[in-house]
Amino acid sequence: MDYKKIIANMTLEEKALQLSQVAAADIIQDADAVVTGISHSGVPQEHLGELGSALNFSGIEAAEKIRSASFAKKNKPLLLMQDVVHGYKTVYPLNIAIGGTFDLELAEKCAEMSAIEARANGVNVTFAPMVDLVRDARWGRVNESTGEDPYLNGLMGRASIRGYRKGGIACCVKHFAAYGAAESGRDYNTTDISDHALHEYYLKSYLECLKEKPDMVMTSFNLLNGIPMNGHTELLVDLLREQEGFDGVVISDYGGIGEMISHGYAEDFKECARIAANNEVDIDMCSLAYANHLPELVREGKVSEEKVDRMVERVLRLKDKLGLYQNASVGIDEESDKTYCLSGGAREIARRAAEDGSVLLENNGVLPLEKDAKICLIGPYAQTQELMGEWACLGKTENVVSVKEGVEKLTDKSVPAVSACSAHWNATDESGFDEALRTAKKSDIIVACMGEYCKESGESHSRAAITLAALQVKLLHKLKETGKKIVLVLFAGRPLALTEVAPLADAILFCWHPGVEGGNAIANLLYGEVNPNGKITMSFPRSVGQCPIYYNYFSSGRPKNPDTAENYLYTTSYLDELNSPLYPFGYGLSYTKFELSEIGISSSEMKRGERVIVSATLKNTGKRDGREVVQLYIHDKFGSCARPVKELKGFQKIALVAGEERRVRFEISEETLAYFTASGEYRAEEGKFEIMLGTNSRDVLKTKLNLYS
Ligand code: GLC
Repeated sequence: MDYKKIIANMTLEEKALQLSQVAAADIIQDADAVVTGISHSGVPQEHLGELGSALNFSGIEAAEKIRSASFAKKNKPLLLMQDVVHGYKTVYPLNIAIGGTFDLELAEKCAEMSAIEARANGVNVTFAPMVDLVRDARWGRVNESTGEDPYLNGLMGRASIRGYRKGGIACCVKHFAAYGAAESGRDYNTTDISDHALHEYYLKSYLECLKEKPDMVMTSFNLLNGIPMNGHTELLVDLLREQEGFDGVVISDYGGIGEMISHGYAEDFKECARIAANNEVDIDMCSLAYANHLPELVREGKVSEEKVDRMVERVLRLKDKLGLYQNASVGIDEESDKTYCLSGGAREIARRAAEDGSVLLENNGVLPLEKDAKICLIGPYAQTQELMGEWACLGKTENVVSVKEGVEKLTDKSVPAVSACSAHWNATDESGFDEALRTAKKSDIIVACMGEYCKESGESHSRAAITLAALQVKLLHKLKETGKKIVLVLFAGRPLALTEVAPLADAILFCWHPGVEGGNAIANLLYGEVNPNGKITMSFPRSVGQCPIYYNYFSSGRPKNPDTAENYLYTTSYLDELNSPLYPFGYGLSYTKFELSEIGISSSEMKRGERVIVSATLKNTGKRDGREVVQLYIHDKFGSCARPVKELKGFQKIALVAGEERRVRFEISEETLAYFTASGEYRAEEGKFEIMLGTNSRDVLKTKLNLYS
């Protein structure tokens, strides 16, 4: 396709609209609004045909309505984009759970199945994967990420990109950059990060994803080191475009270009447009700064037309790549929609992801349950179908399997269930407690299904307290007074501080928001049809005062044993809390017992250019088959920069039958040991390393390695 010829025939106004995106809800909300122009977006009807893209529509009918409207001219078809973040109609578990499966193939499959459903409904581009590094459970959007480790986030992001591509839609790595470092864990808040931390932690996952050639990158809302991301030349132009050679589409987040005014960085929308265009933010999502001011800026010479043409070409290329010029309704297919959406295959993947992304945090032997156990389900999650969490796209609650439904289907018997109270953080109504306690007293085991309300994490839903809601804690104490065994099944979009509730439970199964197959997955886990194998990919704080808390911390000049209260004086410590999390990164139990032993290394001396093998024996010493994630960590003891006490550098998910053992091996090269040194160069520095293998980031076997020239 001769893009240059198409562009040469476009007016400046048409180019500006090609670089503009409006919310489809403004387009299709009222069919008349389409005919008389779109009042919300301010784009006059006669120019609608030049609109480059729209977002947030729903389904085939909407997509067809948009395409058939007068403005979706064939020669400049509309790109339709949506947040297909963890599913479309079949909603998978939150990404924080999918990350916890440590299963890249499963992550890819979830993305592929999501894309197939979305494409059949007219979606061309998804605003995913989100690969922001997250270290603060107060931030509501931790649930969209795969956690606190840059290495895992990068690999999981790449797996999703492969999946979206296989499923037939374009994808968008977000939110560039460091959106997850919001001060105080408060969404949209300032981020201030040293260059070293930026390159060594926060940028890594985005740059790793670029290796998978994503179609788009989305700029984040946050101020970073004093500059709003849409004006961050050093990262958007010098790093992304020039150093990394990214020539895909860069899109702002919703209204982000115009928000440079409230950031105190630009005086008006015209200045916003000038700044963003000169940083080659190609698409203006919903601020209309480009639609209203770019032509004038070009005429005034404040933005070069050559740059605008380059930006327009990127958008046209993406449309061409997706086949939109051959068929503006490419992909829309009622048959595929009926075949794939919520199909048995999709539900099977959703169930596996929910099973493998849930984490067994405690178990004194009460789990797995016997099918004939006399149980009851108590709490706001006992029978609700609200298990999808935020960004549930076109997922419908009516299609979700509740815990009650899943347990009754598996055990083939009726199970008493009492919701007892609301899951809202500030709920106070105890009127359901009496029925709950009456029901509990008639059972042998209480399965307390509690947690954070599904809409109380996610965008714009940060929290200053991250404990279980007070009302539910009160209920749990009353249930404990019955003397019955308690299995606590928890639902949340963030790590919760469980210090008060953990001692009340005989077992804790943390299920995040598990998606449409939640009830079936949880039933399979509770009764041992599936052996829990998920791991947490964010540290679980003991208290919110520890946030941000993460496993790859620096020792400080006055280090302290993180797990004891002794010897705190003049060491890095709290008077009233331990330094360690309640549950560490990479932690998760099983119904069987795994033992890791006999760590060995092929040579404790490694010359530059050589490789060594570190290995250990993993044994399933229990009575059940199971899967374990063996994790490889390194610690660079001394460097031109201080190095974190641990860094994840590899993982293997190993299935062993009862009694089986296997030697697990990892290869270590200079690349494994490399980092952004004090000079900014990415390389391994000679010297002493600790090499560790473990089944979580706390309990590890250690060996030594010396790198020399
Ligand atoms: C939102 C989110 C972003 C999403 C976009 C479009 O504000 O920050 O992740 O993709 O708007 O819905």
